[in-house]
Amino acid sequence: MAMAGRPPFLAVALLLVATVMLSWGGNVEVAEAQTPFKSCVLDGNVASVMCSYNKVNGKPTCADKDLLSGVIRGDWKLNGYIVSDCDSVDVLYTQQHYTKTPEEAAAITIKSGLDLNCGNFLAEHTVAAVQAGELSEEDVDRAITNNFIMLMRLGFFDGDPRELAFGSLGPKDVCTSSNRELARETARQGIVLLKNNGALPLSAKSIKSMAVIGPNANASFTMIGNYEGTPCKYTTPLQGLGANVNTVYQPGCTNVGCSGNSLQLSTAVAAAASADVTVLVVGADQSIERESLDRTSLLLPGQQTQLVSAVANASRGPVILVVMSGGPFDISFAKASDKISAILWVGYPGEAGGAAIADILFGSHNPSGRLPVTWYPASYADTVKMTDMRMRPDTSTGYPGRTYRFYTGDTVFAFGDGLSYTKMSHSLVAAPPSYVSMQLAEDHPCRAEECASVEAAGDHCEDLAFDVKLRVQNAGEVAGAHSVLLFSSPPSAHNAPAKHLLGFEKVSLAPGEAGTVAFRVDVCRDLSVADELGGRKVALGGHTLHVGDLKHTVELRV
Ligand SMILES: *[C@@H]1O[C@H](CO)[C@@H](O)[C@H](O)[C@H]1NC(C)=O
Ligand SMILES: *[C@@H]1O[C@H](CO)[C@@H](O)[C@H](O)[C@H]1NC(C)=O
Repeated sequence: MAMAGRPPFLAVALLLVATVMLSWGGNVEVAEAQTPFKSCVLDGNVASVMCSYNKVNGKPTCADKDLLSGVIRGDWKLNGYIVSDCDSVDVLYTQQHYTKTPEEAAAITIKSGLDLNCGNFLAEHTVAAVQAGELSEEDVDRAITNNFIMLMRLGFFDGDPRELAFGSLGPKDVCTSSNRELARETARQGIVLLKNNGALPLSAKSIKSMAVIGPNANASFTMIGNYEGTPCKYTTPLQGLGANVNTVYQPGCTNVGCSGNSLQLSTAVAAAASADVTVLVVGADQSIERESLDRTSLLLPGQQTQLVSAVANASRGPVILVVMSGGPFDISFAKASDKISAILWVGYPGEAGGAAIADILFGSHNPSGRLPVTWYPASYADTVKMTDMRMRPDTSTGYPGRTYRFYTGDTVFAFGDGLSYTKMSHSLVAAPPSYVSMQLAEDHPCRAEECASVEAAGDHCEDLAFDVKLRVQNAGEVAGAHSVLLFSSPPSAHNAPAKHLLGFEKVSLAPGEAGTVAFRVDVCRDLSVADELGGRKVALGGHTLHVGDLKHTVELRV
């Protein structure tokens, strides 16, 4: 997905309503690629959809009438406006040469269902398109009406903004202590503990000196990621840890690119050799990954792996590896190393990231984050073409497929991984039924002949749902939150995913406390898969639901 700068009006819209941006996969997988967008429009009721720069099957998305008017405004009944990514309309004329003239580009996009253009292309060429007879005033009116309805919903015509709820907000409302605490809590909740041999949580009392090493060890701007705002105040990892224990700081490298510097390396190694505990903070920043800059390797940048190994090798005390990045890394060496006691992934944790890292390392907060993506081995990027968008594996060519849903190869860490300082156990309170029957219409072909699947829409889907209730018990000594991830593995019809996430719930539990989490599973919506033509089908047969090691199979019959 591409992103670009947005005008102030959109910034306001973004605050108040979710915006969803469209970028589509190819061919048969288009309908499946639409699923999350469809859910944003239908279930999330977004007020804006953005069409991207790229072409899909030869057609720029902002000039695709079937997509904009047919699917989004037609089938999904978008209540809001469709906006182009910044300069998408310009790009389809000047770079993709999809139209011969700029007027034609203005006409085709508005007629396709575009309401608003990020950039000035439509402002410059729409009048000429109407004058040339390529576009009717009715089409322009439709676009303007959609935009003005949005302005009305946002209160633009409701009076003096200073007298309205949002009109009087200012800097004084931003850096409040509760907002800063929210930044810290958000960071804590996002931190994922990937390995812990028992070294964590650390006891500050027993640590006389801590070596804090690595190119992100004193990161500030890096923590707020890409498309960032202006923070109130940073707490870097070094500052967060330093508020608890004495620290010795060594960056180990000049920057995250870590091109190698033997003097910096040896001073880092020496610091680790004389400290009671070593915290390494490595990873990436915007010089490695951002819009228009894709990573080409899944390994840590430059000499970071050598830095981690040498420091871990020389450390006197336990070594905690903190990875600060947007994307995943192949850190198999660290996962396997006896010298590295614990690994955390902290994402780009925001202004209070360093304080949150300290909260987790010293145990005042029990981690409960889970990985949102698969961490592939480095060989994945070497063997899989990044332009190959297919999700499903292809055994004839050895293509391994993508995402936790389809990829079946080895992982460094898996989607949903994340450890805690306590032990949580699950049990089923109310088992779902062992079978569910669909009532098909008299003339439905699957009444007469054996079918592998049935369409995931129609009367037979009406009220076809069941509940899954789980009891979660905190069987450990410390309080903590626990994320319950409910997966389903469908029957193999239609090259179905190995598993997919149906839902998740987070519960907070004191030591010994038990709680209940409930999921409502709608058979047609939640258990369906895309068929070979992109239609949604629900497969007949056994669907296995799982939460951790707990499994239960529901048989779907007609
Ligand atoms: C760590 O970063 C902060 C914020 O950029 C800076 O003020 C401080 O001097 C740095 N500390 C060290 C030891 O470099
Ligand atoms: C780790 O230490 C061993 C011996 O103690 C040495 O042979 C090896 O080269 C060291 N590895 C690194 C990465 O420094």
